[in-house]
Amino acid sequence: MILVGTKQHKRTEYMRQAAKQQGLPFSLLSYEHSYTELLEQLHHISGAVKIDPPSFHEDALAPMKEQLERYQSFLNQLCSCHCQFLNHPSALVTLLDKYQCKEVLRQHGLFVTDCLTSHLQSMEELIALMEKRRVTSVFLKPIHYSGAAGVVALRRNLATGEFIAITSSAVRQGQLYNTKHLYRMTKWEEIRELLDCLLPLGLMVERWVPKDTINGMSYDLRVVVQFGKVIHIVVRQSKGPITNLHLNNCAGTVEVLSLSRQQMEAIEELCVKAVGLFDGLTYAGVDVLLNKKSKQPYIIEMNGQGDLIYQDIFAKNRIYGEQAAYMKHLELQMNER
Ligand SMILES: Nc1ncnc2c1ncn2[C@@H]1O[C@H](COP(=O)(O)OP(=O)(O)O)[C@@H](O)[C@H]1O
Ligand SMILES: [Mg+2]
Repeated sequence: MILVGTKQHKRTEYMRQAAKQQGLPFSLLSYEHSYTELLEQLHHISGAVKIDPPSFHEDALAPMKEQLERYQSFLNQLCSCHCQFLNHPSALVTLLDKYQCKEVLRQHGLFVTDCLTSHLQSMEELIALMEKRRVTSVFLKPIHYSGAAGVVALRRNLATGEFIAITSSAVRQGQLYNTKHLYRMTKWEEIRELLDCLLPLGLMVERWVPKDTINGMSYDLRVVVQFGKVIHIVVRQSKGPITNLHLNNCAGTVEVLSLSRQQMEAIEELCVKAVGLFDGLTYAGVDVLLNKKSKQPYIIEMNGQGDLIYQDIFAKNRIYGEQAAYMKHLELQMNER
């Protein structure tokens, strides 16, 4: 198999181990090469290929936009290669657009956190939208980013009209940076400056759905689906509204939630259906919250490369193990032809 990925990354090392266990020859095409060089090589390959994400060594969100666009263009150009992709680049591109992905789910009647607009133009528009839809709490998200970059939980106090914003992004000298901490902002000028930096990134607005809690912390789930079933679930507990694990949040197992069998089945059915809607998608990490009141699961977003789970690689490495077994099967089929 060929892995398009990063040298000395955990993804690479554990995929290499999984391939070895299957007796599957493994080679890495590293992002140290330019996209042009990678495309040149991949156009001459017909084997099984997995594409991992590049590591963007960039904390400033505005310059990251250009890097994300270049990566998407690389994925689009990969679509004309004749490799057997584990996840097809066209599916990865669709999922990299949070809004487009969600539209597919919504059109098929799946429960998703409600999107109010896909391209917010101004703070004035946001206030008008919140008033029109009678919404006091929203999430703002740059459509193409990940890892909580630029994600803002924004709440308006109806009595005073004041806003509170919670985010891991910080403005320094007029530039927006991704950090590993959650900040709480209440000063209007500060929130305004934050939004002014976020708007050019392409911002969607969602209704803030209150998450279920456990031990006084809110939580959501990272559900990894592959080959038509759920293989792993991580519970992400947080004192704040943004649960991504690099923000000092706690990872737990789903057993701590003591969900009923019906609830577990509802979550699994939702996630498996969601992944099944995208051609060429064999695995994905689905972010799911349970509504605090109704416990109804809602999909927050899907990650076409959301299969790195530390609790799994450091234990049995089952996720990559299954992928390696599948790619071995693909290679054998190709060799028979
Ligand atoms: N509409 C929402 N309601 C409640 N929480 C949300 C909502 N959207 C996002 N979140 C929280 O913010 C986190 C990051 O949002 P997400 O859409 O997953 O973006 P990212 O790609 O940056 O992980 C989610 O894991 C969840 O904890
Ligand atoms: Mg997420």
